[in-house]
Amino acid sequence: MDHPEEKKTYYITTPIYYPSDNLHIGHTYSTVAADALKRYKTLQGYEAYFVTGTDEHGQKLQQKAQEVGLEPIEYIDRIVADTKKLWESLHINYDAFVRSTDPRHEKNVQELFQKLYDKGAIYKGEYEGYYCTQCEAFWSESQLLDGNRCPDCGRETQLQKEESYFFRLSEYRDRLLQYYKDHPEFIEPKSREAEMVNSFLKDGLDDLSVTRSSFDWGVKVPFDENHVVYVWIDALSCYLTGIGYGTDEEKFNKFWPADVHLVGKEIVRFHTIIWPAILMALELPLPEKVFGHGWILFDNDKMSKSKGNVVYPEPIIELYGLDALKYFLLREFSFGNDGSFNAESFIKRLNADLANDLGNLVSRTLSMIEKYNDGVVPTPGPSTELDGELEELAKSTWQEVDRAMDHLQFSSALQAIWKLVGRSNKYVDENEPWVLAKGEDATRLNTVLYHLAESLRIISVLISPFLPDTAVKIHRQLGLEGELVYDDAKVWGLLDGQRVHKDGIIFPRMDVAKEVEIFQEKNAALIEQRKKEKEQSARPQLPPYKDEVTIDVLDQLDLRVGTVLKAEDHPNADKLYVLTVDMGSEERTILSGIKEWYEAEELVGRQVVVVTNLKPRKMRGILSEGMLLAAEDLNGALSLLSPGERLDSGATIS
Ligand code: MSP
Repeated sequence: MDHPEEKKTYYITTPIYYPSDNLHIGHTYSTVAADALKRYKTLQGYEAYFVTGTDEHGQKLQQKAQEVGLEPIEYIDRIVADTKKLWESLHINYDAFVRSTDPRHEKNVQELFQKLYDKGAIYKGEYEGYYCTQCEAFWSESQLLDGNRCPDCGRETQLQKEESYFFRLSEYRDRLLQYYKDHPEFIEPKSREAEMVNSFLKDGLDDLSVTRSSFDWGVKVPFDENHVVYVWIDALSCYLTGIGYGTDEEKFNKFWPADVHLVGKEIVRFHTIIWPAILMALELPLPEKVFGHGWILFDNDKMSKSKGNVVYPEPIIELYGLDALKYFLLREFSFGNDGSFNAESFIKRLNADLANDLGNLVSRTLSMIEKYNDGVVPTPGPSTELDGELEELAKSTWQEVDRAMDHLQFSSALQAIWKLVGRSNKYVDENEPWVLAKGEDATRLNTVLYHLAESLRIISVLISPFLPDTAVKIHRQLGLEGELVYDDAKVWGLLDGQRVHKDGIIFPRMDVAKEVEIFQEKNAALIEQRKKEKEQSARPQLPPYKDEVTIDVLDQLDLRVGTVLKAEDHPNADKLYVLTVDMGSEERTILSGIKEWYEAEELVGRQVVVVTNLKPRKMRGILSEGMLLAAEDLNGALSLLSPGERLDSGATIS
């Protein structure tokens, strides 16, 4: 129920991302959209709240950390720091960043799991299926591609059988279908609802395995230490943690249910089948909407680091600015569908929409006000039909924007605004102010300049959720201070007598062919640099080399080949062998701490490298007359040094 004195709330989420190095522009899509939506809703007067985060548990991450010799959390911390930095550089205005490894969240997951178990929604059983480590998903035989490949990523799966807890998903099929019917806007675009019904719900649902016991990097099942909670329950419940579930009841009640979960198309199933069923079982209200957006492809192919066809946000921001990236992502692609990035269409769109249309309108409007009226917006004279037409379009454009944004059609919203930009530019051409300026009477010129300034003011308000920096720049150039206010886009006539300050070009026009080359070079250089960094970080972190020495230091060492004749346990030291070593001219007793790696019988007959002129040292009562050289790697494996070929005992080493 709405309380008139209370601000209406609007809760938006992006997916909770898997920690991944170097996010590409596809990854920024949900986040850029959520940010624009939040700004738009805030401008409309809502108290908007935006949650994003990282989904940090699971076998895949545990394995990746192991490969580079780090603890999972050490490995993840570094990536999460980079992700946050990226969101910061994109000026993503989120309110909470939930890390699924945050103890507060882990506690919530345990509580939720316990609740589901107590309600009988979860039971213990056994799972058999084909497991894809990459996607952390089990598949049935009929779902596999070409023998045993994962239908999502195409990688090989392994047949696994394990004890597991199951969520009674099968019981929710009818309720879900009914819910979709009663809430036709729950899944958008509509085509995704049809996909869910036809591919998953039509033939019934299986119960869902919700724990794993084959690895332990996850939230432990509160009453069964052998199991960790399956990542999807863990990840989805970040949406609850982000608004204070378990810590701030008031905040939670204020914002839940979510108004929209923005998700990529491949995870719509988790958000529209599994998530609502879990919420039903928990007796929590369901989100108002799940919007499944399309993927951003590269030249019609899936972006992937391994294919080397990724486009990174950094070069775009550096060369063209943040707003150019945001504008392109939101305008070029229809939010529900896939879209393909292509450098040429990217530069062409910046040229056409930002430099030619918007940039030109700003530049010519302000220049003319400066040139023809000393930088002050003039008082208009009587309006003609043409003026009225521009005024009407400007005052009503917000309605078009609202209509589009009600269905998260960012591209249509921007098109509606650009219709006004285009109309304003045409209005300049129709009125030819430079001709009017030559006449005696300035009334008509004043009316035209005034209309242009007003239209530009409204445009600056309307674009502000999508191009926030540009909006402020235009606003300031129009001499306006303070926040941009949405209602100002609905009214005409705020600028009479306003002093403007033209300040540079907001979007320069570019030579397409040259710019495509510059962009591609920069992006390719970054791909190369990141590949190198990755190779470098995959190398073991060995101790640094010692300080340089001169040859005489080596000359001082007397190294010779010896042959082990006898190997016995040291009577008073667990880790030491007492070795009798043939040095050619004599036999020596040498103590060596290699028991952990070698059996005594493996040593007898083995040739070794002996430091012969080390001062003899007594160890636990026995004198050692030398030292054996050995190599040890980072994993703690050890190997005694020996000559590659057999030599006479006593052979010298230099
Ligand atoms: N961890 C899960 C989400 C759990 S939500 C409770 C996950 N993470 S992800 O990192 O793999 O994906 C995050 C989002 O990035 C998804 O919505 C995915 O669709 C999106 N994208 C990844 N590549 C993309 C493109 N090339 N284009 C558009 N979106 C893409 O899934």
